[in-house]
Amino acid sequence: MSLMSWNEKMSVGVVAFDTEHKKLVEMLNQLFDAVQAGKGRDVLGEILDKLIEYTKSHFAYEERIMGQNAYPDLEAHKKEHEELTRKVIDIQKKYHSGATVTLSMEVLTFLKDWLLKHIQGTDKKYTPYLNAKGIR
Ligand SMILES: [Fe+2]
Repeated sequence: MSLMSWNEKMSVGVVAFDTEHKKLVEMLNQLFDAVQAGKGRDVLGEILDKLIEYTKSHFAYEERIMGQNAYPDLEAHKKEHEELTRKVIDIQKKYHSGATVTLSMEVLTFLKDWLLKHIQGTDKKYTPYLNAKGIR
């Protein structure tokens, strides 16, 4: 069983963003699988780092497209991205320093819930605007 799966209800109506969201879901599932399989700190740390790197580049990409199209809610959207980025960097630091011994189900569930809520709430708000600008 994977932690989550991408479905059409999660589509934000922009192919490039859907593709990246699918990749995020896949990477989060990889982390979940590795935790379930009892993989060691090094393996988990590497997957976590990759997930965070990808998340940051995805956020930057969304922000660039929104910015280029003068999306009116850009600032609020950016704030949500920044807040999550801060939180995951904190988790990453704690994990690598050994202060956090395990990547708990709580962390994985937090990431999953955040991703779902953000995509289905905040991201979907840009769909009509960007689509009207010819971005789909
Ligand atoms: Fe977003």
